[in-house]
Amino acid sequence: VKRVTVRSGAEHCDSEIIIDLGGVIRAHHHLKVSQYSSVAIIGDLGASTHVQGVAASCGVPSSQILLLSGGEKCKGVETLSQVWEFLSQIGADRSSLLIGVGGGAITDLSGFAAATYMRGISAAYIPTTLLAQVDASVGGKTGINVGGIKNLVGSFQQPRVVLIDPETLSTLPSRQKISGFAEIVKHGLIKDSEYFSMVTSQPCSELSGTELTPIIGRSCDIKAEIVTSDEREIGPRKLLNFGHTIGHALEGYFLSLGESGSPEKILLHGEAIAIGMIAEAFISSKLHLLPREALLSIERAFQQSGLPTRLQTPCTYQDVAARLASDKKKRGKEVLWSLIKGIGDGIYDVRVPPELYTEAISYIQPSAQ
Ligand SMILES: NC(=O)c1ccc[n+]([C@@H]2O[C@H](COP(=O)([O-])OP(=O)(O)OC[C@H]3O[C@@H](n4cnc5c(N)ncnc54)[C@H](O)[C@@H]3O)[C@@H](O)[C@H]2O)c1
Ligand SMILES: [Zn+2]
Repeated sequence: VKRVTVRSGAEHCDSEIIIDLGGVIRAHHHLKVSQYSSVAIIGDLGASTHVQGVAASCGVPSSQILLLSGGEKCKGVETLSQVWEFLSQIGADRSSLLIGVGGGAITDLSGFAAATYMRGISAAYIPTTLLAQVDASVGGKTGINVGGIKNLVGSFQQPRVVLIDPETLSTLPSRQKISGFAEIVKHGLIKDSEYFSMVTSQPCSELSGTELTPIIGRSCDIKAEIVTSDEREIGPRKLLNFGHTIGHALEGYFLSLGESGSPEKILLHGEAIAIGMIAEAFISSKLHLLPREALLSIERAFQQSGLPTRLQTPCTYQDVAARLASDKKKRGKEVLWSLIKGIGDGIYDVRVPPELYTEAISYIQPSAQ
């Protein structure tokens, strides 16, 4: 069992991350459920066997479990309101614990519901996707989507405990696993070159729960250290946005194609971020921050690991320009970029001449590979 602490600026609000292979059956102990007046579970239907496991360990009756279909659709005001009403109906009070069990959408939603119900109750997460285990459940950002804008409304509130059981990944489709792996690789690229080489040395979809356990632990260490140094993202936390300026724009554009009748074109978050990291490593090399050889070795490492480096469906700069400009992380009119000046060496608040945006989008087109 490995433990990682995320220290929060708010007093008595530190968050403990516990990584325990097979630990779902010890959820009762890890989450200290006996401390609370009652326990409610918001569970991801896509992870229902794991939800049942948590409920059994914690002695939560089915009347105190709300099962929701996971995925982005559940991160809206209607579902949030459904969660608030559910909590009220089962008599949850200020000393209750809300446990979110599922992917990042479910943990983000549960966290925001807990942060707002009765002005805030305790939350715990049991993330069941790789992305949620190394990213969404670590760092205390909660939120929902409003008016088609991702994470427009939310809060910073650390969960009391995050219990990560890599065995829950055994049911995860490999495409989802690869998507989560992109964030792991990002942690290496911005902070730890040795870790980057280690995690990209073999196809990530073949890694077992046992092999993934120390990797998840190291990624949680890296993210926790960054978040502890800058919880509110005014400085170093921005490093975590590497790959995300272009990645988010790609994700949004291909989602819009998906919604207008080509669902096969939709990119998962991590797929968009992987290609976004290549585009932003390219920008880094064009700015002479990153040697050209390093860019090429990053691309080889991605291929070895099974991460995409180019789009499958072409897009033009015009297709994504508006989405690039509306990046939520921008200040005023200007987009400030998080780039790398070496493998394992991220920097933030970099200005990039707009000509390079177009070049970077050309670089990641299917024909370029
Ligand atoms: N709070 C943060 O700091 C932060 C960081 C990164 C991402 N996020 C958020 O996380 C969300 C994405 O999370 P995600 O990638 O986990 O996707 P997701 O929550 O949409 O889950 C993906 C799919 O996997 C299913 N699923 C979950 N666990 C499973 C399991 N063990 N076996 C099989 N299927 C399972 C879900 O039902 C869903 O259909 C986004 O909403 C994003 O905004 C938040
Ligand atoms: Zn991400």
